[in-house]
Amino acid sequence: MLDLGLPIGHHLLVFALFGVLAAELVMVRRGADLATVARVGRIDLWYGILAGLILAVGFARAVYAAKGWAYCSHNLFFQAKMGTFVLIGLLSVPPTIAYIRWRRAGAAPTDGQVASVRGFLWAELLLFALLPAFAAAMARGYGEFS
Ligand code: HEM
Repeated sequence: MLDLGLPIGHHLLVFALFGVLAAELVMVRRGADLATVARVGRIDLWYGILAGLILAVGFARAVYAAKGWAYCSHNLFFQAKMGTFVLIGLLSVPPTIAYIRWRRAGAAPTDGQVASVRGFLWAELLLFALLPAFAAAMARGYGEFS
């Protein structure tokens, strides 16, 4: 059951995280008002929650699912996926700080601030596209080392 439930949870969480990222890209635009800033802040909270859940379910999968930790920990694509995921997490920090600052300042963001946050969001989205490729390669045994 765990072998079925974990992959289902893993995929649903990953799609949800992608959805949150896409929503932020749609909402953080030139001319965004304070109501939008507040909404983006609430959505961004879900980004953190989902990323944490993906880590938990992902590692549960790596340790308890069919192939096991010995397989995952000796696979270059697994490591590339983890590294990319961490990098995406780091890139998500400046946007989160910006949302908090904009809300505290009680002023709509300037065009420059919006452009900077969108740059980070685009970088996250592009890196995100690598994850399914790394995952599929790993699941098929590419990148194994002893
Ligand atoms: C800490 C984060 C993560 C961990 C520990 C993790 C771990 C795993 C593990 C153990 C598998 C099973 C591979 C196999 O069957 O041999 C898997 C599959 C998969 N993961 Fe992740 N994962 C994480 C994050 C992500 C993210 C963010 C994505 C985003 C796209 C993702 C996409 C996938 C996909 C698409 C598969 C299925 C691959 C296939 O069977 O073709 N994972 N993951």
